[in-house]
Order: sequence, then C-alpha cells, then structure tokens
Amino acid sequence: MALRKALTLSVSGKGGAGKTTITALLLKILLESGKQDILVIDADPAMNLPNVLGIELKGKTTLGMILDKKKDELELGTHFYGKLLEGEIWESIINQNGFDMLIMGRTKGEGCYCSLDSFAAIIIESLTKMYDFILIDFYAGFEHLSRRTDRFADILLIVTDPSKMGFGTSRRIKELIEEVNISFKDVFLVGNRFNIKLERQLSNFSKEIGVKYAGIIPYDQNVAEFNMKGKSLMHIPKDSLAFIFAKRFYEIIFKKF
Ligand SMILES: Nc1ncnc2c1ncn2[C@@H]1O[C@H](COP(=O)(O)OP(=O)(O)OP(=O)(O)O)[C@@H](O)[C@H]1O
Ligand SMILES: [Mg+2]
Repeated sequence: MALRKALTLSVSGKGGAGKTTITALLLKILLESGKQDILVIDADPAMNLPNVLGIELKGKTTLGMILDKKKDELELGTHFYGKLLEGEIWESIINQNGFDMLIMGRTKGEGCYCSLDSFAAIIIESLTKMYDFILIDFYAGFEHLSRRTDRFADILLIVTDPSKMGFGTSRRIKELIEEVNISFKDVFLVGNRFNIKLERQLSNFSKEIGVKYAGIIPYDQNVAEFNMKGKSLMHIPKDSLAFIFAKRFYEIIFKKF
C-alpha cells in the first residue's frame, strides 16, 4: 500500500495581498466539497488566520512556544522531533468542525537548536503522512522560501493584488524557488481584489514569469465587512463574489490531483 501523503498547498505573496483570506476561502471550499482530514497551518507570526476563521487564540499552544520550552533538550540532543510530534505538537493541534489547525507563532529566544522555520519543516513533513490536505498560510516575504520551509508542498499559490509591488514580489518568488531549487509540482498565480478588466494583464504576466494562471478574486464587500466585524469567513454567504471566484480557481488548482 502506498504511504499516505497529503496534498500540500503553500500560499505566498506580497504583504496584504490576500493570502490569509484566500487560505480561508480554499478551506471553506474543501469542507463544502466533503473533503476530510484537512490541516491548516498558520505559518505567519502575526497569527491572523485563527481570527479570520473565528478561532480564539487565547490559551492555544503554538509551535514557537513548544520550541522555546524544548530548546534545551533539543540543544542537548536528548529530545527528538519525532517524540515531540507524538506528544506536545499533537496536543497543540486544534480540532475544529471538520478540520485541524496548527499555529506556528513565534519563538522568544535567540540561538535555537534550529530556527522555527526549519523546525516547522520537519514537523510539516511528518504531518503530511497524517492528513489528506494541508493548507499553509505564510507570512509576506521570502524567508520561508530561502529556508525551504515549504519544500514538502506540492502546490505554491502566489497571491498578488493589482500593484507593481505585488507583481514584483510574485516575480521575485518565482526566481527564488528556482534559486533554492524547490520543486513544487505546480506554481500558480492568483490576482486578488482584481477587476475583470485587468485579468488579461495578469494572465500575460503569469506567462512572462513562467507560472500557471489560476484566476482572480474581485473586491468583495462581504470579505471586508466580515473582517471589520470579526466574523469568521467560514460563514461568508455562498453568493459572495470572493467565494464564487475562489471556487473557479480551486477547480483549476486541484483539478490534476
Ligand atoms: N477580495 C477582497 N475583497 C475585499 N477585501 C479583501 C479581499 N481580500 C482581502 N481583503 C482584505 O484585505 C486585507 C488583507 O487581506 P489578508 O489579510 O488576507 O492579506 P494577507 O496577504 O494575508 O496579509 P499579510 O501579509 O498581512 O498576512 C484584510 O483586511 C482582508 O479582509
Ligand atoms: Mg496573512
């Protein structure tokens, strides 16, 4: 029997482009299409994803907290990642209605045995054997790529808004994955807060940088309103523009798998 291996999707892009929103929308679509054994990982130290999913952060254990606590043992080599996974990390995983969540958070201390990013990479690799789908919401920037935290991901989704900076960041991400030699099975570009009139420009740009074009999400008043009111995107109405468009590119991204 083949070993189970979760289909892992990593979400990247410029700050504020819509990574967290899109991670939440994709989760909602997976759940509504009856998928099970889903893990979402908040890999952004700002920890916005729990908020967007209506999960209370207080009292939750993060990977950063575990790494801080176990630092000495890990430094002395008396503790193994595998053992940690069996115990504390497993306990820190939050069970929600239909999905699990792991929060990376951040570490306090300096001079860790290994950085949170490399610690997370080891943990994520082990977790791929325990789920069918893993979605990872990363922080803006490139460190996770250069540290190869998402080297186990199958799909990289680059999110851009309609801005020169968004396009520039997307291009840089594409260059970087080649430099550090991460071999995603697929790399997609999606435009968020995009007007249909600009779609052609975006699809041309995706060709130019050599990634697949996934589609756009228009500006959606419901997304903004849910955010302002602190309501979970899991409850966004199904006729919301963002949800309708996200379903379209969900098909494109997951079609092959
Ligand atoms: N399609 C949309 N329509 C309306 N508002 C949106 C849309 N997408 C995102 N937003 C809003 O834009 C803001 C930034 O979105 P989001 O937090 O998803 O971006 P991000 O890329 O995760 O940001 P960060 O880099 O800070 O993690 C949020 O307030 C969100 O509610
Ligand atoms: Mg975010």
